[in-house]
Parts: sequence; C-alpha cells; structure tokens
Amino acid sequence: MRRPSSGLTLVVLLLSVLDLTSAVKHGDFKTCAQSGFCRRNRALAEEATAAGPAWTSPYELETESVKLDQGVLTGTIWKTVAEKDGGRVELPLQISFLDDGVARVTIDEAKRQKGEIKLRGDSKARKERYKEAEKWVLVGGKNIFANAKLESRDQESRVSYGFGDFQVVLQHKPFKLTFLRNGEPHIVLNERNFMNIEHWRPKREQEGEEGEDESTWWDETFGGNTDSKPRGPESLAMDITFPGYEFVYGIPEHASSLALKETRGGEGNYEDPYRLYNSDVFEYEVNSPMTLYGSIPFMQAQKAGSTIGVFWLNAAETWVDIVKSQKNPKALSTEKRSTHTHWMSESGVLDVFILPGPNSAHLYSQYGALTGYTALPPEFSIAYHQCRWNYISQDDVKDVDRKFDKFDIPYDVIWLDIEYTDNKKYFTWDPLTFSDPISMQNQLAERERKLVAIIDPHIRNEGSYPVSKEMNEKGLATKDKSGEKSYEGWCWPGSSHWIDAFNPAAVAWWKNLFDIKKFPSATKNLHIWNDMNEPSVFNGPETTMPKDNIHHGNWEHRDVHNLNGMTFHNATYEGMVARLGKGNEKRPFVLTRSFFAGSQRTAAMWTGDNQADWSHLSQAFPMILSQGIAGMPFAGADVGGFFGNPSKELFARWYQAGAFYPFFRGHAHIDSKRREPYLYEEPYRSIVRDAIRLRYSLLPIWYSAFQRASFEGMPIIRPHFVMFPDDEAGFAIDDQFFVGDSGLLAKPVVKEGAESVDIYIPDDEPYYNYFDQTVYKGKGYKKIPAPLDTVPLLMRGGHIFPRKDRHRRSSGLMKHDPYTLVVNLNNNGVAGGVLYVDDGETFDNQKGAYVHRSFMFNRKALICGNLHLEPSKAEAYEKTMEDVRVEKVLLVGVGDEWLDKKTAKVTLGEKNWEVEVSVTKGRRGKANVAVVRDPKAPITQDWQIEF
Ligand code: NOJ
Repeated sequence: MRRPSSGLTLVVLLLSVLDLTSAVKHGDFKTCAQSGFCRRNRALAEEATAAGPAWTSPYELETESVKLDQGVLTGTIWKTVAEKDGGRVELPLQISFLDDGVARVTIDEAKRQKGEIKLRGDSKARKERYKEAEKWVLVGGKNIFANAKLESRDQESRVSYGFGDFQVVLQHKPFKLTFLRNGEPHIVLNERNFMNIEHWRPKREQEGEEGEDESTWWDETFGGNTDSKPRGPESLAMDITFPGYEFVYGIPEHASSLALKETRGGEGNYEDPYRLYNSDVFEYEVNSPMTLYGSIPFMQAQKAGSTIGVFWLNAAETWVDIVKSQKNPKALSTEKRSTHTHWMSESGVLDVFILPGPNSAHLYSQYGALTGYTALPPEFSIAYHQCRWNYISQDDVKDVDRKFDKFDIPYDVIWLDIEYTDNKKYFTWDPLTFSDPISMQNQLAERERKLVAIIDPHIRNEGSYPVSKEMNEKGLATKDKSGEKSYEGWCWPGSSHWIDAFNPAAVAWWKNLFDIKKFPSATKNLHIWNDMNEPSVFNGPETTMPKDNIHHGNWEHRDVHNLNGMTFHNATYEGMVARLGKGNEKRPFVLTRSFFAGSQRTAAMWTGDNQADWSHLSQAFPMILSQGIAGMPFAGADVGGFFGNPSKELFARWYQAGAFYPFFRGHAHIDSKRREPYLYEEPYRSIVRDAIRLRYSLLPIWYSAFQRASFEGMPIIRPHFVMFPDDEAGFAIDDQFFVGDSGLLAKPVVKEGAESVDIYIPDDEPYYNYFDQTVYKGKGYKKIPAPLDTVPLLMRGGHIFPRKDRHRRSSGLMKHDPYTLVVNLNNNGVAGGVLYVDDGETFDNQKGAYVHRSFMFNRKALICGNLHLEPSKAEAYEKTMEDVRVEKVLLVGVGDEWLDKKTAKVTLGEKNWEVEVSVTKGRRGKANVAVVRDPKAPITQDWQIEF
C-alpha cells in the first residue's frame, strides 16, 4: 500500500479520485479579462481598431536621434503622455543587425533603466525592466553584421543589412517598423498601433483618470491572493503583422491545433488569446488557448514558398492575440489573407527577434543559432520508457523488469515517481520499500536498462532534512516578497521551500547533490525527471508562486516566471554531467515538465497530465509537432493517458501513436489500474508489443533524426508545411507527419473504431505501404486500411532508411546488430538516405567518434559514402564498429526488368564478391521488391552494390 506522507497529499489524491472525469477548473486560472495588463492592452487594441485612421499612436521616433554604428541602430522613441506625467516618456530603441539576416529590436524605458522610480511599500525588488532573459536563453547567433547601411529621410529611415536582400523601414511618426526581404514586406511591427509601453508613474491619491482603468495598476487580487505590484503598471505590447501569410505556428505549450487559431471570437475561433504562463493546469482540456506547463514565445509564419519567424524574448506572463484579415469579397480568389498578432507581456523590456527564413530549414537554424539546438540524447532515451505513479517497491520494479522479458517486450527504462522517496524528501529512498536500490539498478543493468527517478524543486520544510537545512542556511531558496525570508508554500511534501536556481550559488550546490559519491544509492544508470518546476505550488496563485516573490539579484518572480523551470532542469543537467567526475562525463537524460526557449539544450519534455480518452490521444500529435517547430523536438505525451483507465482499443492505439513520439513513455496516475503492456490479453498484448518493436526496429532513423536536430534544428517529426512549403492545401494538417529524413509518412489512428485512415499524399511520388508495399500514387487523400493491429505508415519513393530487424530486450543490446537498408525508389528509380551512429552515451561524438554515412541508389548501384567531416577522428570509434554490417537490402518499387535478376556485385576497395538477389513481383497494387541477402557490407566503409 502506498503511504501518503502528508495530509495534503491525501486530500489531493482523494480529490483526484473523486474527480477523474471532470475537466479543468477554469476558475483557477485567469482569462485575459481577469488579468489586468491583458485586459488593458486588449482594450487599447479595441479602441485603436474602432477609431481607425482617427487613432493617434503616442509613439514617435525622434528623427535626429537615429544613428547606425557598426551594425547597431539606436534612437529615442518618445511616448506622449499627460502633462501631469511630464508630457513625454523616453524609450530608448536599439536594433541590432545580425550576421544571418536576423534583426533584434529592443525598447527600454529610460526612467526605470536609471532606477529613477520609487517602489511601493518596502519592496526590495529591482527597479529596472528585466533584461536578463538573454543570459538564460541565448547561446550564440549574435554576431553583428557591421556593414548595415542607413539612409535617413524626414519621416523615415531605411537600413539595408545581412547577406541577403534585407531591409527595415523605420517610420518615425507614428513609430512603425517594416521588415522587407527582396523588396517585399514580410513583418510589420506596430502597423495597427497597438504598441504600448506602460511607463512608470507614482501612485496618485486621486485614482481614476478619465478613460483609464487603473483598477489593477497597484495591486491585483485573484482567487484570494493579492499581488502587491511594487512597480505599478509596466506591461509592454506590440502588434506584429505578417502580410500575405495566412498560417502561423508555434508559441507552445497549448492543447491546440498546430496551425494557430484566431483568438477574437467567431466560429471555430477562441475568445481568449493564447496564454504563456507556465502553470500546473490540473486536468487540462483539449482545443484551448489556456496556458500549460511550458512556453516558447517563438512563432513561424508560412505562406506558399516563404517562411518567416519572430522570437519574443520575454519571460513574464505573456498573451498573444491572433486575427486574420478578411478576404475582400470583390478581390480575386487568389488574394491572400494576412495574419495580425498582438503580443502582450506583463513586465521586462521589449525584445523581439525578426528571423528572415526564407524556408523552415533556415528559420530553425537561425532560431537554433540563438537559443541552441536540442542536445543529442543518450540513445536509450529514444527507446521505450515504462513509468507509473508509482512502482511501489524495488521488488515491484524487479518484477516488472522480469515480466517484460517473459513476454518478450523490449523496454529500456523504468521510472520511479515521488513515492520512492522517504516522505517526499528528494535524494533519499523510502527505507522500507526501497531498502536496496543498488541491487534493483544492477538487475536493470544486466540488460543495459536504466532507472529514472523523480527529483522536484520543492524541498520539504523539515529542519533535520539535510537538503532543506543546507538550502535555507545558505540562503539558496526563493524568497517571499520581503526579499529576506525563504518563501514557504505547499506541494507534495506539505510545507516546502523552493530552490532558487537563478542563483549561481544555488546551482553549484544543487549540482553537487548529484555527485555519484553523494547521492545515496545512485548508480551511473540513474537518470532524472524534473517535475512540478513551473513551479507548482498547491496553495499559490494559479497554483504557482506569487509574482512578488524575490529571486537572486532581487528580481521579482513576475519578471522571470517562465524561465523558472528551465533554470532548474539546467542545474540538474549540469549536476548529472559532472556527477562521475572529470573525464568520465556521460550524456544525462533529464525530463522536464516546465520549459522555455533554450530548454532543448538540456532536457526532453512531455505534455503533462493528459487523460485516458480519445480526445487527448488526438491532441498529442499537434502538441508534439508544435514543440518541434519551436526548437524543442524531444517531446512526448503520456502513452495510455495519465488520468483514468483507457479502453483496450485506446491503449493499443496509443502505443501505436506513442511509437512515433520522439519521447515514448507509458505513464499512469496513482489511482489508475495497473497497465504494463504484458497485463493485456491477446490480441492487445501483441499489438502493443509490435508497436514497441516497430519503434526499436526504426531506432536508427530516430537517432539519425536527433543528430540532425542537434546541429541544424530540424524537427524530429515534421509536419506537412515543413516538408512541402508550396502546398497550401496541407498547411493545416497536424495528424500526419514525416519521421526525420527517412521518407516515412505516418498517420497513427487516433479515433475510436477506425478501420482506415485518409492520408494526404502531397506529391506525385509513389508512396509504399510499410507493411505490404501497396503503392499509393497521386496527390490528394488516399484511404489506407488501418485495422486495430496496423499503424498506417507509408514510405515515400526517393528515400533510403536503415532499420534493425532483430528483436532484443533493450536498445543497448542492439548496438552491434546488423542493419537492413530499405531503398524506396521514386519516379526516376533513384533514392538517397543517411545513417548516423555513435556510442550513444558519451560526449566522444563531439570529438569525431561517430559514423555518418550516405546511401545513394542510382538505378544501377547502391553506393555507401562517408559524410564524416573529419574522417581521421572517427578511426578509433570505427574500429569498435567494424563488425557491424548491412545484412539485407530491400529495394521497393523496382521495375519488371528486375524480375530475372539473381545476383549483384559488392565492391569494397580492391575486393568484390557476388551476392544473391531475389525479386518478388508485386500483385494487386503492390510494388515489386528485390531483396539482397547478406551483402556483408560494413557500415564503417565505402562500398557499392551493382545490380
Ligand atoms: C505531476 C506529473 O505531471 C505526473 O506525471 C506525476 O506522476 C505526478 N506529478 C506525481 O509526481
């Protein structure tokens, strides 16, 4: 039996049992109308829209102030305000032009910058607008393009910059920025005059200026919590227009479609803006712009043949409204709509990056150059993970481990949720149920398996608990609004404090806790799950920390909230890298629930507490695709659904879908029935086993895709608009996708009772059914059979992918297994592909210890070449892999002239030998398939097979 460790845990658990079917409690989270600054900015937008041309924006760029020096433009924007407030407010503007065509626009407020404001009450908070988000987020891409050229005219300045044909036109009055590529406008800032920088002003005794809603300027109460707002109103907002772009994507995390919806009402649209305010939203609902656990303020706009992006670098609560211009009924039907967005943040400086594209690959590398690319994960972590809240004892874990073997189901990782600890004290083990964690980890290690244990940021408030004692004595916890006392709130352990990972001293201390010599009973096979790091505070406003809490450097929590989760999992990652000592570093696996731009460098994410119903299954792919667009592709959803008990059909379908999540983990709530796959009767057990085996067999593709993501930022699973950027008909598709560069097009079933799915074929190449090689050809929707034991999966002609066909118990046991190459011929009878392999666990790949091969089929021969950039650095690693070979080649879609082929010739350096080929005629719509048996072609060398 699970032993609840505190009264509160019990209450929370009871509530969740009683309430399994209910949806999110809307009343616990703000709508825009309940968030003071969102309401004010929306009201301003409404006023400006209603007034039309009669509206005067108070922002003007002073012509004489505009200067361009070495690629950085500076100037002063004046905001006209009431005489009693001084008549005008100085807002320093800076635009930096960066090497790759990226432009960065920042706007600050001079008075706050100089600290010339008075804080209310006895607050210790900083006076400036927060601009340190970049310290946490940006890792590069900031080289200035010094050759930018400025031309100034009376009411306009124009800067040409970058190696492409980029320009920005600065309209001085009212202030407006138009970004052009090849002479065409692609992004306009403040076109609709919604720009708003709430300047500092002292609180007057006489409130209620005419026309201004001051009710939430000086304090704001919600759900019984009052935010003291020592700096008064300070929000910032800007409208950003994408002319001619009908589609926008990104700004995760929302349980919504991949293509973002309009948010100002109307049929099929949302009423509220998309919200970005990392929160533990209990029982979240699908199809909603409500905030969730993480946020990445990056947006991509797409029109046929062109891509552009913006990155709004602000870590405070942010809302984004989206509307699209209406088509003029009299205009030609080819007229394109434009997307108008409105970004509103509660505090901080305005800091926005304009990323020029012009296609997805460029855009993702521009964004990745700034925020970093996804870490190449340890290979085991892209295999299957088995989790539940909770495996209740080491015997339970050992038993599950044995049963997976008994039923021949591969898995790589088993997880421990919060109950493994002694009374929710992290870095401890429950002395009764986990008395010998080492023997448990050793059993797992016999099959190269790993353990992941949860470590959360709330530290039990118990004097004798060394972690708590040290953290508080050293002053490393987040402070309450006094700036002096550790903030105290409630979470799993009951009364808790939170580590302040903004503090370098706290990070150094935290890192140390993971030292293998310090962390009791941890072995090198232990990896970490960081949960509840929004942070989740059960009794806090909107289940998180008060905004007037104080972090290191005296920054208010308000300014840094969305960064909080990332600072924590970064610290964990650093500790995990260092834990084995210098020279012994291994790639750690860290899973985080909360994230921000940059989190991809150190952690994977999952979509939190979903529900065991069909709507949550179908919601998962749009969410995971959205993560990929926003640079954090190592993403997954709880397979099976967290809350509730899935039907057998749902369970089977969820595994088939999960096998295509970059992060593939089954997880379940403590009150759900046990659901390890082997517990299911046939045919469900076999269906799930086959889905997991399919994942294992395709691991080479997944790992190669992760490698590309790790240096170019390409998503792991790629939606239609990324692959076919000219085909608008598919821009809204978010239930089918390509896996890496493999040409595999998947559309797992996410609807109850489905017998088939309609897959959208985007071009004229042949698409072959993965399982029976049926050929589908011709652009448009095609019906693909999808009985319960089948996951709809097509192979696009023109691609070659590697796969491993031997079933093993874990990915670690497959390291030296041979490969099958699947060659899918296109209309011209040719195909190409890649394979990336390294040791999957150390950082030696960064020193060149990897194999990177290209495969080309040119109708006559299959040629394997080297893509390694510095081949000599690979030699030692190649030696360890020299016995790994291609044991089979399948050529799908060969012509009838192949039917008599019996042999082929393999050439490797000076040597050559003959191999057997057998060709099967495809009947009833199936492709011909040629099979080359055991060509004995090593993956570490160049060779060719001639037919
Ligand atoms: C919330 C997480 O989202 C969930 O996955 C986990 O099981 C519980 N916390 C308990 O740790």
